[in-house]
Amino acid sequence: MQKYVIQGGKPLTGSVTISGAKNAAVAIIPAALLADGVCRIENVPQISDVTLILRILQELGARVKLVNRHTVEIDSRHILSFCVPDELSRKMRASYYLIGALLGRFGRAVVSMPGGCDLGTRPIDLHLKSFQALGAKVSVEGGYVHATAPEGRLHGAGIYMDQASVGATMNAMLAAVRAHGTTTIENAAKEPHIVDLANFLNTMGADIAGAGTDVIRVRGVRALHGGTYSIIPDQIEAGTYLAAVAAAGGDVFIRNVIPKHLDCITAKLEEMGVQVEEYGDAVRVIRRGPLRRTNIKTMPYPGFPTDMQPQIAACLCLANGTSVINEGIWENRYRYVAEFRRLGAHIQVDGKIAVIEGVDRLTGAPLRACDLRAGAAMVIAGLAAEGMTEISCIHYIERGYENLVEKLQGIGADIRLVDTQDEDSQRAGQAG
Ligand code: UD1
Repeated sequence: MQKYVIQGGKPLTGSVTISGAKNAAVAIIPAALLADGVCRIENVPQISDVTLILRILQELGARVKLVNRHTVEIDSRHILSFCVPDELSRKMRASYYLIGALLGRFGRAVVSMPGGCDLGTRPIDLHLKSFQALGAKVSVEGGYVHATAPEGRLHGAGIYMDQASVGATMNAMLAAVRAHGTTTIENAAKEPHIVDLANFLNTMGADIAGAGTDVIRVRGVRALHGGTYSIIPDQIEAGTYLAAVAAAGGDVFIRNVIPKHLDCITAKLEEMGVQVEEYGDAVRVIRRGPLRRTNIKTMPYPGFPTDMQPQIAACLCLANGTSVINEGIWENRYRYVAEFRRLGAHIQVDGKIAVIEGVDRLTGAPLRACDLRAGAAMVIAGLAAEGMTEISCIHYIERGYENLVEKLQGIGADIRLVDTQDEDSQRAGQAG
């Protein structure tokens, strides 16, 4: 067991480099199942969700070679199975991409219902409806999704998303890319990782147009070949470091980013009195004066991302005045509130709304991470709080942040990764 120990209240300075996007990687890696050749994928983040999805591919019979820390080669020509067992699938939400990828490749998939962070009800009805629209027979039995294309291959169709779902849009693309005929996805989600998945598939020989708009057209192709592709930088990881500087103060260059993807976050930070300068593939974030209050409503891209809501809330705890957050995507995204209160934050929650009354200071306390982004927000709050904050259950945070401790140390944060067993045995030794 490990935890983070943070001595807060120190401004951050220097530069930090952002890794490849988690939510793109966990879709692009399963997408390699669709190719009849070796896919070389670069800028892959070293996080536990990626380790897990690569393990699932290996279990299915794919050859996975780690070329270096951030490059992986996947050869899916000798896949043995279209069945993903429960013990692997339930550990992550993105395992649902295996349904679309296996269905697109083999016309068959048996995948255990996905797991992932507890953000409230996380249905996959839109995913299943998309597969059905493409001609698949779909049922859920014994906790597994069974999907079969009756004649071995799906056929193109019109798909209308009742709600702009990121996962369902990407899954529909995966299933449709090798289908017979053309598929049109309307009211598609527009997140940067949707464009990234489309670019990856097109590099491998797919014919996808319109990704990044709300209508995506996929002309089915017989086969995909191998190739080389580099994943985009992680918008949310970059946003998390922006929020860390906003909360703790300081002056930091955030490198390897696409500044346009950060507009929805930087606009809010600027409203809060934070200075953000854009460079080609970097942003510089400076916060010296006090933080000002603001209101936030989370929405699909290009709106303010729900995956940045807890981190911005950490900043707003220290802003002048009262801020209101309206969580528009997930029903259970305020589980960090009880932990923030331990630091002295003033927050009231009523359903989707959180009202944050800014305080002059937070003071360190032991906290427990409860999901990935809530955990990141606790780190930010800990960096801004006076005194020592300890954060346990950090496995949630490691699902999505590469080398968080080293990267924060690199910009002057006093944060350490501590083995709790070592501490326990030290205490036992002292007691003996
Ligand atoms: C992805 C991200 C997650 C992020 C979310 C919204 C991954 C692995 N995860 O999750 O970090 O918070 O986008 O940006 O990329 N919905 C349905 N039926 C469905 C699917 C979704 O009703 O079949 C609803 C959900 O309950 C939610 C909304 O649609 O209210 C958006 O969900 P969706 O965009 O699908 O999120 P995920 O793809 O699961």
